[in-house]
This record gives sequence, C-alpha cells and structure tokens, in this order.
Amino acid sequence: MAAKGLEGVVVAQSRLSDINGEVGELIYAGYDIDDLARNSTFEEVCYLLWNGELPNQQQLEEFRAQMEPQYVLRPEVLEMIRNYPKDADPMAAVRTAVSALGMFDADADDISPESVRRKAMFLTAQTPSIVAAFDRVRNGKEPLQPKPGLSFAGNFLYMLNGEEANDTRCRTMDVALVLHAEHGMNASTFAARVTAGTLSDVYSAVTSAIGTLKGPSHGGANVEVMNMLREIDESGQDPQEWVQNALSSGKKVMGFGHRVYKATDPRATVLRELADKIMAEAGETRWLDLSDRIRAVMAEEMERKGKKIYPNVDFFSASVYTTLGIGMDLFTAVFAIARMPGWTAHLMEQYVDNRLIRPGSDYIGPRDLKVRPISER
Ligand code: ACO
Repeated sequence: MAAKGLEGVVVAQSRLSDINGEVGELIYAGYDIDDLARNSTFEEVCYLLWNGELPNQQQLEEFRAQMEPQYVLRPEVLEMIRNYPKDADPMAAVRTAVSALGMFDADADDISPESVRRKAMFLTAQTPSIVAAFDRVRNGKEPLQPKPGLSFAGNFLYMLNGEEANDTRCRTMDVALVLHAEHGMNASTFAARVTAGTLSDVYSAVTSAIGTLKGPSHGGANVEVMNMLREIDESGQDPQEWVQNALSSGKKVMGFGHRVYKATDPRATVLRELADKIMAEAGETRWLDLSDRIRAVMAEEMERKGKKIYPNVDFFSASVYTTLGIGMDLFTAVFAIARMPGWTAHLMEQYVDNRLIRPGSDYIGPRDLKVRPISER
C-alpha cells in the first residue's frame, strides 16, 4: 500500500516548480524563487508559469494590457456578491463566485490550450476583484472599480483599501504573491488536477482547488500565526516563556516546520526582509519584534532537541498582511489570489497529457455478509 496521504508518491511530471527541501530551494520553471522575488513581478511570474519563459518588455506590456480589462467584475457576479451573507467565510465567497463565473462563460467546457490559457488569465484577474468586492460589501462599503495603470498587486490593495498604496507596500504585496504562486503537487493543486483529469472544465477544477486550500492544514496556517502573535501580545507574557510552555505541553508553534522543507523555507527569508522595511515605514514594528523573539527562542530550543524545524513562509506573511491592512480572515483568500496562476498552469499541463487520476484503496471491511429481511435485522 502507498504511504498514507500519498506521501512520496509521484503523480505527474511538471515543468512548473521544484522544491529541494533538504537545502531549502524552490524554483519556478528553472528560476530560483529568491531571484524571481527580487527581480521580477507577479505579472512576469504568471507569464513564466503559463509560457515557460519570462517575458521581454514588449511581451509584458501586451500581457498587462490584455489582463487589465479583465479585473472588472460582470454586474451579475457583483450583484451575487452583494447578496452573500455578510458573515460568510471569504473563501466560501471566492469559491462560489469563481464557480459562478463558469456559468457566464459560453466556452466554459473548451479545454483546448488556447481556451485554458484565456481562462487562466481571466480567473487570475478576477479573483482579487472578488475578494476586494466581498470585503467592501460586508463592511458596508461600495465595491471599487479597478484603477487603470496600477500593477496587479497595487490594484488589489487599491480595490481592497480604497486608496493607492505606496511603492513599498505595492512591492511587498507583489513579492508575497510571487512567493505563493506555485508550489509543486500540494493538496489544492492535486485537487485541481484530479478534477481536470476527468476532463471537467477549468472553473470546476479551480473551484475544487479553492475548496481544498480552504482547509486549515493547507491555506490557513498564517491565520494561526497571527492568533498566536496576538495571544502573546495581549497576555503580556514573555515570548520565551510562552514558547517554552507551548513546547513542553506538546504544542506545535505555528509558522514553524514544513512537510517538505527541512531547512529554512526560502520564501520566509525574502518575506522577513520585506517585513522589516514595511513595518519600519509604518512605524509599527511590534509584530516583527515579537516574531524575531519567537524565532530566536525556537532556534535555540530546536537546536537543543536536534530537530530541523525552521520558520516557514506563513510565519512572516501573517504580520506582513496585517501591516498591509489585510484582515486576518482574508489571508487564505489572498493565498488563493496568488496560487491561481500555479493552479491554472497545472491545468494546462494536465489537459495536454491527461490520464484519469484514480488511485485505489485497500478494502478492510467485512465480506460474505447476506442481506436479511428488514424485519429480522
Ligand atoms: N513546533 C514545534 N515542534 C514542531 C513543529 C512546530 N511548529 N513542527 C514540527 N515539530 C516537531 C514535531 O513535533 C516532531 O517532533 P517529534 O519528532 O519529537 O515527534 C518533529 O518536529 C518533526 O516534525 P514532523 O511532525 O515530522 O513534521 P511534519 O512534516 O509531520 O509536519 C507541519 C509539518 C505539519 C507543517 C508541522 O511542522 C506543523 O504543524 N507546523 C505548524 C503549522 C504550520 O506552520 N503550518 C504551515 C506549513 S507551511 C505552508 O503550509 C505554506
């Protein structure tokens, strides 16, 4: 029997990303994540994942010109969002709106490469607008139209917060999106590929992925990090004492450890640097100071115990998102925005070389039972 949870099982060949957990390396289509985070933008990474190469200036301009008009939500979808329960989980709102988009697309069932590429861009452009519109409506505010000329990240922050973010904040959002765009055969990507493997449509596959990302064991860890930071902050407890108590009572410290990375998560390193800049600028270093204290205690404790447990990307994304004015219950929805290019790039791969994904299971129930008349059971 394969390992429970399919750990170690290879289900596809992919040109999209590779993770070397032992040394803490992540590449997208040949490029190191650190290099991409420092020297490219989210739009360039979308292009890379969908085309296998980075764009030149002209290609990037054409790409952005194609994408920009697609930020606008159609009135029917906006109307639906207005009618969602105000206390709905934002991930349920995104999942429902993305699913609905499929009903308005006359070519929804077309899985030709050109059509899948078109939908990849459309869904990537629409998702931030859905998240921002839902957040504004539930807070009694009018959803905003996208502002021409802004970057993908800048436009999202504008549509969410109602004001243009400065360069540091736009760039921080942009890098956070780059860092989360793709990550191998994670659970939500696998779910998308399983759905596509039945030759179902892109909207259905992405809806499966969003539903899978929603689970706290996948997309929700940074929410737990923020809960932890707030708990320590509000209790006034010494972080060292808090961490040591948590460890001695067998708890896991949120934002540390990773199933794949047994060295520092390279995404955490980049985010830590950005966190420094954005929080210094905001004049609010409380969360970063606290995070650094926790990191130092964890480093000591894990070294003493001989465990390879390091901060993961969620450890810093929690405080970065909070500083960007993103509410805690939107964190997973922001992850969905960032992962859309990765999911859709996997769909492109799945459709062109498809085989139904249908694992087996070991039957461990009884056999040879006979149905007795119902009056005798
Ligand atoms: N805090 C304290 N101890 C930890 C932590 C942690 N965060 N993570 C792992 N350990 C310990 C384990 O208890 C285990 O100890 P043991 O050998 O004495 O039993 C040892 O380190 C090895 O870890 P595993 O449990 O084998 O690691 P696994 O691969 O099963 O778990 C996981 C990875 C689920 C991410 C875990 O580290 C965890 O729960 N972390 C906290 C939640 C979190 O931050 N999740 C985000 C992951 S990143 C992402 O999804 C983008």
